[in-house]
Amino acid sequence: MIFGACYYPEHWDKTEWKHHARLMHEAGLNTIRTGDFAWGVMEPEEGKFDFSFLDEAIEIFAKEGIKTILCTPTAGPPKWLVNKYDILQRDRYGNKENWGARREGCANSREYRKRSVLIAEEMAKHFADNPNIIAWQIDNEFGCHDSTRCYCENCRKAFSKWLEKKYVTIENLNKLWGTVFWSLQYSSFDDIILPVYNSCEPENSQSWSHNPSLDLEYRRFSSDSWVEYQKLQIDAIKKYTNKPVTHNFMGHFSDIDYYDLAKDLDFVAWDNYPDNQWGDSEYEYVSMAHENMRGVKNKNFIVAEQESGPCGWDTMGSTPEPGQLRLWTYQALAHGGEGMIYFRFKALPYGMEQYWYGILDHDGIPRRRYYEIQKTGNELKRLEPYILGAKNKYDALIVKTYDNLWAHQIKHHAKDFDYRNMLYSYYKANADLNINTAVSVGNYDNYKVVYMPAYNIVHTDEIEKITEYVKNGGTLVITFRSGTRDVYNNLFTSTLPCAFYELAGIEVEEFTALRKPAHITGEIKSEVNIWCDILKPMTAQVLCTYTDRYFKDRAAITVNSYGKGKVYYIGCDLETTAMKNLIRYISKKAGIEMIEEPHGIEIVQRDNCTVIMNHNDFAVQTSICGKSLINGENFNGELDAYGVEFIVN
Ligand code: GAL
Repeated sequence: MIFGACYYPEHWDKTEWKHHARLMHEAGLNTIRTGDFAWGVMEPEEGKFDFSFLDEAIEIFAKEGIKTILCTPTAGPPKWLVNKYDILQRDRYGNKENWGARREGCANSREYRKRSVLIAEEMAKHFADNPNIIAWQIDNEFGCHDSTRCYCENCRKAFSKWLEKKYVTIENLNKLWGTVFWSLQYSSFDDIILPVYNSCEPENSQSWSHNPSLDLEYRRFSSDSWVEYQKLQIDAIKKYTNKPVTHNFMGHFSDIDYYDLAKDLDFVAWDNYPDNQWGDSEYEYVSMAHENMRGVKNKNFIVAEQESGPCGWDTMGSTPEPGQLRLWTYQALAHGGEGMIYFRFKALPYGMEQYWYGILDHDGIPRRRYYEIQKTGNELKRLEPYILGAKNKYDALIVKTYDNLWAHQIKHHAKDFDYRNMLYSYYKANADLNINTAVSVGNYDNYKVVYMPAYNIVHTDEIEKITEYVKNGGTLVITFRSGTRDVYNNLFTSTLPCAFYELAGIEVEEFTALRKPAHITGEIKSEVNIWCDILKPMTAQVLCTYTDRYFKDRAAITVNSYGKGKVYYIGCDLETTAMKNLIRYISKKAGIEMIEEPHGIEIVQRDNCTVIMNHNDFAVQTSICGKSLINGENFNGELDAYGVEFIVN
């Protein structure tokens, strides 16, 4: 099993490499991930390649039993490249991005593409037969620092071609986008604009002021551009080697369609920083990110960068407490991780990331974090058979598509409504009841309950599939705004909930964004703060009604029997406790077994074992007992602060 650290030989004096390799070996680490951002060393002048530092370092680490995952360095174009070629992105105001950090290249720049493919190909040629390289990574974190969408002329031209291929005639596009509104008709594909800053938008606002079809298509196009850019590098590498190729994804990041990005890769890798300068994440949020990463290919993944120390750019997050590094490691593995690489091996005294600590501090002396990782590595040797190839048993699915994320970013619907938070609230309630929940698209039949909260853009084939699923006995949960938009990001004109009308068995007679709270009563009680759909049941039964104002006693939550299955319609937002009550109610009816433990206890059911984790900083007595796979002894259910157990099923 891959168990390693990110290590950049070019950051250290050569004389230290052996010592670092030894320390890694002693910690039980067996892999380094390297090369990302080393373009300036690999190609110091145009066309002059020098990989000797890597040859030497890879060899030194191999002598300590440590293999290499080699990354292409294209997220950090060197100065000579930007001096000679105009590869830099343009922002929404038409400004050229400045060189001096990273990720400033435009995916549609001919020269950036060409130079990227060239270095990838030179690397592949050079390292193809190196037995110590076990896998390749393309680039680093596509889209980070808001770099997915560029607004340069290259992008505009490429976008116009992309649209022409899709819409064929400009008349067709005009009709489907409704450009007649505000006289925004195009006479030819050459006229196409990008959704840049315009007259309706206050500077630096987050509001989107363009035709919603244009905006959505530009997001799709920009995502496709990176998928294509990545593919060029994959092809260059695969010409010379058939070692597996990956890219490091960013969990909940939503600007690139990760299903598309993953298609050309052999496996998914991702970077997990639960607690850093930008805030700390609830454990359910991290678990959802892992599920999302497993869900993009419906396949186990590796963690390419795992937080291993206090970290931040200008200020630091807190230091992982004793037990947390081990716990985060097991949380990843429980949700489908098959490899773990910590970022970074040793903190660097210079550069932007001086404060991004790793396993070792700046003085390089092994201390608590190093020994915790060493201990985890030793345990993993025993646990490996329960991790490699293991599958989780899922009861529920949260359907997540990037079209929906983008459509909700473009039209927020209501103040304080945030689609990502909404998806998370459904995941969190399931996780708090210890229901294994996948985050993905695809085969609904594998799940007892399928959630499509505020799932506004629906493709016709999805409706057909979900209807079959419900007919055959499945449970579907939809909410306000589900089923309301077509694939061009226009609203349907049929009666709400439009695409789900027949399945839901209700009509949304009226709706309102809330200026003051409302309440619901019935099977679930809650304050409602963001949105009310006022429902008229057709064939559905009422589970909850409102208690306020002109919609008092009107239906808020309903359930409809359809074929052998059921469709719940949730017409409003819910408080956290009410959400949990709702999920408990639905899951019980759907025959899902729940395990209720104190908050912070996470239980993941795998095909071959059960993993129990305590995310609290105090010990907790749980109801789970059994034989520990970590030490072979009897586990009586008590977990230490940040404790973990793997038990035999
Ligand atoms: C990741 C990135 C790494 C490093 C780390 C700390 O997003 O892939 O290269 O920069 O963050 O900032």
